[in-house]
Amino acid sequence: MQSLLSSSVLANPCTTGSPLFPPATAKLAAAASVPVAAAARSGAIAAVSRRSASGGRCVVAASSSSSSSPAVTTAEAGEVPATMKAWAYDEYGDGSVLKLNEAAAVPDIADDQVLVRVAAAALNPVDAKRRAGKFKATDSPLPTVPGYDVAGVVVKAGRKVKGLKEGDEVYGNISEKALEGPKQSGSLAEYTAVEEKLLALKPKSLGFAQAAGLPLAVETAHEGLERAGFSAGKSILILGGAGGVGSLAIQLAKHVYGASKVAATASTPKLELLKSLGADVAIDYTKENFEDLPDKYDVVLDAVGQGEKAVKVVKEGGSVVVLTGAVVPPGFRFVVTSDGSVLEKLNPYLESGKVKPLVDPKGPFAFSQVVEAFSYLETGRATGKVVISPIP
Ligand SMILES: NC(=O)c1ccc[n+]([C@@H]2O[C@H](COP(=O)([O-])OP(=O)(O)OC[C@H]3O[C@@H](n4cnc5c(N)ncnc54)[C@H](OP(=O)(O)O)[C@@H]3O)[C@@H](O)[C@H]2O)c1
Repeated sequence: MQSLLSSSVLANPCTTGSPLFPPATAKLAAAASVPVAAAARSGAIAAVSRRSASGGRCVVAASSSSSSSPAVTTAEAGEVPATMKAWAYDEYGDGSVLKLNEAAAVPDIADDQVLVRVAAAALNPVDAKRRAGKFKATDSPLPTVPGYDVAGVVVKAGRKVKGLKEGDEVYGNISEKALEGPKQSGSLAEYTAVEEKLLALKPKSLGFAQAAGLPLAVETAHEGLERAGFSAGKSILILGGAGGVGSLAIQLAKHVYGASKVAATASTPKLELLKSLGADVAIDYTKENFEDLPDKYDVVLDAVGQGEKAVKVVKEGGSVVVLTGAVVPPGFRFVVTSDGSVLEKLNPYLESGKVKPLVDPKGPFAFSQVVEAFSYLETGRATGKVVISPIP
């Protein structure tokens, strides 16, 4: 395994007058969160050491030692501090706009929300595109605490929350619509507020770091397969099989939907990984053009931005699902909707290990290394998920 990049915690650039940047005086309350923080941290650390013990392999084996500690189950709303550590930006730009705020406001919860003490978070390409201002027309107002994916512990529940309670270990994608008013106070923080319907109980067999890498990517893979009408006995080509979405799409297609054939593309060093995930055919895009090969597929899932080539290898009447880049008929694009019930549906496969989270072996990145984690994500070479854990 390669060593982590060097840490550079930036000085707190607190801007007063914003809910995310309150005056530093509120900071004093932070010490009160220790029991919950310590419990969440112990779970996250357990997850990291399990991954290391596997010799740095990308596919993370399931383990059962990360569940609740007494401190977690007795967590009370009164232990929640007024402020928290959070990564945030108050202008769009490259990674340099990200600053660590030591005293951001802990978000309030609405009646249908829970407050989650974040144990682990994960980055998605949408976090980087959003930070760069690509979606500014539909974004929530600045300043922004980025992060869609979360795994952690419920420490407070709103009045209308029915299914979750304090102490529950949960995971999910905190923004229902990734591009339409995503949460201003995201998961790269000690606390985040999330609608109950966007969360699911964390599979007990997974650590927080493993679970954090799943929600947005697995929901995208699932929604893509559903929209394509994928079902048992069909064949699929997944472009970008080693990425966050692709690695889960391979596993869902093969192990959940019962695909007759799964083909996927990646560069040479990642071909064995594709096969270990369930691909029957691993295509090395550095040596072959998939569109020149004779095979045709019922469905093509494009997680790379090769829509023009993708339509050349779909069978007549088949579907081409495009996640990014050009869309050429019959291809179509969608933007993922977060839905906790999808995670609940997939939980048995995650519990049994039929579907495994794939945490990039350069991580998990420490909370102090969020800037490095973004810059690694933006190379476009991540294998599976770029996870931040433990938090803080
Ligand atoms: N529409 C939606 O709702 C939605 C949802 C999620 C994601 N997305 C988009 O879908 C894309 C993929 O997301 P992700 O999270 O899977 O990204 P990711 O994890 O960052 O993808 C990285 C992977 O892409 C592979 N890759 C890069 N170029 C490739 C090529 N030419 N052929 C095959 N593989 C290639 C890399 O493998 P190598 O190192 O082998 O090249 C790497 O493993 C992003 O653009 C993202 O914004 C859209």
